[in-house]
Amino acid sequence: MDTFVINGGKPLFGEVSISGAKNAAIAIIPAAVLVDGVCRIENIPKVSDVTIQLEILRELGASVRLVNQNAVEIDCRGIRNYIAVSDLNRKMRASYYLLGAFLSRFGQAEVAMPGGCNFGGIRPIDQHIKGFEALGASVDIRNGVICAHSEAPLEGANIYLDVVSVGATVNIMLAATLIRGQTVIENAAKEPHIVDLANFLNSMGADIMGAGTDVIRIRGVERLVGGTYSIIPDQIEAGTYMAAAAACGGSVLVKNVIPKHLDCISAKLEEMGVEVEEFDDSVRITRKGPLSKINIKTLPYPGFPTDMQPQFGALLCLAEGTSIITEGVWDNRYRYADELRRMGAKIQVDGKVAVIEGIEELSGAQVHACDLRGGAAMIIAGLCAHGSTEIEQIEYIERGYEDIVDKLHRLGADIRKVHRDDPAAFPKAN
Ligand code: EPZ
Repeated sequence: MDTFVINGGKPLFGEVSISGAKNAAIAIIPAAVLVDGVCRIENIPKVSDVTIQLEILRELGASVRLVNQNAVEIDCRGIRNYIAVSDLNRKMRASYYLLGAFLSRFGQAEVAMPGGCNFGGIRPIDQHIKGFEALGASVDIRNGVICAHSEAPLEGANIYLDVVSVGATVNIMLAATLIRGQTVIENAAKEPHIVDLANFLNSMGADIMGAGTDVIRIRGVERLVGGTYSIIPDQIEAGTYMAAAAACGGSVLVKNVIPKHLDCISAKLEEMGVEVEEFDDSVRITRKGPLSKINIKTLPYPGFPTDMQPQFGALLCLAEGTSIITEGVWDNRYRYADELRRMGAKIQVDGKVAVIEGIEELSGAQVHACDLRGGAAMIIAGLCAHGSTEIEQIEYIERGYEDIVDKLHRLGADIRKVHRDDPAAFPKAN
């Protein structure tokens, strides 16, 4: 079992280059199922969720060729059926995007119920199902498999989402791309990766307008053709390094970003007294003085992202005064709070609200990553804590952060990945 070991308390200095957006990549890879040709996707992050997604396509009969570490050529013409029920599908959330893609291409889909981060509550898919049904499919769940079938060809429809859902917006966009007629998604998600997916599909011949607003209109087309597309930088990876720099102190240039996507994060850092300088495709984070308390409410984009909530939870442990976080997207996303408490944090959680009383310093401890972003929060806590922190269950973190150890190392952090049963890594006390 691998762990991260961090000797904390060192300021961060230097530059870090941000990888392609994980949540865009794992929507765009299944979208390749719709393409009647070869698509080359560049700036793909080398993270385990992406590897699994590519493996799922391979299993289904697609040809997947790695051009280099961050570029891949996918040809899905070899996929002959619409059933994806292997164990790999159950390992990650985004495997359910095959539902939309298969429905669009074959008019039928059978896909295993997805896995993904567990925040301590259920992750419903009723809005996905509502969308598919509006297009004419009948959907039921049998033996852990979501089955969507239709007698007649699917047809475009107007769909109003009852909640702003990234996943449902993606799945309905995919389903509507190759079917007859026009689909309108109202109350759609506006996240940067929704826009990226629409740009990918349009660059292959789709007709999608309005992505990035809350009304997306998709006119079905007969065919998508191959092409080359480069994925946007990862907003959340960038935000995580920004939060780490703020927590540890120092000055870090976060490169290869779209600063506009980071506005909500930059604004909160500035409110805490951290300096944020914005350039064309980078931002510099500099912290010299103490951190001030702030309140945060997470919301769908362009609000403060829920996927940055745990990292700010760790950061606010060090702010002067009492900060309040309100989780506005998920019912529960504070499993990491117990782990922070092991490090001395004063954090109380009541439902969707966390109250954090700032302290002088966190102290290193043995903790675990509860999920991907909760794991990122533990890294930030470990980096700024006094003493040594050992983080277990790092496979969660590796789902979404490319080369995190190397990137932090280059900023001056003392972090390494070790095998727990490596005796050299943890010398026993005499
Ligand atoms: C995506 O999850 C992201 N995952 C999540 O990031 C992110 O936290 C979330 O969007 C919100 O931004 C991927 O892109 C793979 P939702 P998703 O559907 O699509 C409710 C990370 O750390 N809802 O936007 O599953 C739901 O319960 C991951 O990278 C319904 O009620 O999230 C939640 O309260 C973790 N019915 C809210 O909507 C539905 O049918 C938003 O969920 C669907 C969702």
